[in-house]
Amino acid sequence: MHPTTRRPILAGNWKMHLDLAAGLALASEIRNRCSRLRSVDVVVAPVALAVYPIAQRLADSHIGVAAQNCHYAARGAFTGELAPSQIKDAGAGYVVIGHSERRQFFGETDEGVGKKVRAALDAALVPIACIGETLAEREANRTLEVVTRQLDAAVAAVSKDEAPTVVIAYEPVWAIGTGRTATPAQAQEVHAAIRARLGERFGRDVAERIRLQYGGSVKADNIAALMSEADIDGALVGGASLEAESFISIVTQTAELAQGRPS
Ligand code: 13P
Repeated sequence: MHPTTRRPILAGNWKMHLDLAAGLALASEIRNRCSRLRSVDVVVAPVALAVYPIAQRLADSHIGVAAQNCHYAARGAFTGELAPSQIKDAGAGYVVIGHSERRQFFGETDEGVGKKVRAALDAALVPIACIGETLAEREANRTLEVVTRQLDAAVAAVSKDEAPTVVIAYEPVWAIGTGRTATPAQAQEVHAAIRARLGERFGRDVAERIRLQYGGSVKADNIAALMSEADIDGALVGGASLEAESFISIVTQTAELAQGRPS
């Protein structure tokens, strides 16, 4: 982690969990206990229906809100979809794009991810673009090939000026919801390759400013080791973000590391 150049970003992906009351209660608790931690960006990604009320609840804090998906069109006859500008209008500042569950279960393609990243930037949303290999791809030694292909597509329509805004989340599919975290060294290896590729695309200085999150079974007891790696700038947290204690511990430990204090 490079605290002077990249501000850590921790996002809780609530997926299709929590009813409104539980989401509001969790958001309040995170706001109350994380608002003084100014050295990190903190984001929650509730179900789309809860984006508006949760953004209202967090309005007086620096905690951001993300949608979990968006459409790439600005408007139109796309029943059931959400335009980035509508997500922005509801109070979100971020949108998760290309999560592996969307790729796996909802036919999300590399090309679609690129279009959505473009659309998110057009609506002044920060895209959190997800990439990551499956277990079969890792075992076939195709990790870097797959991740590079997904990354190239995700940033295909991003300009050099916009690139530092984009957040890339590396989430190996085999580590999601399995309790099987990538080791810090495994994650770092891929993060370094991602940053090198971004350097080829946008130049080294720009690549140094782009934040790379790790995701996949991040917990309070492994965040510190992950964050000590040079190219890991935060985490996209699933299961451990549904419970106040574990998510707040993840945020607090990262904030302390960012301030150069051992946790
Ligand atoms: P888990 O933290 O539950 O493994 O989920 C990771 C994830 O998919 C976050 O987007």
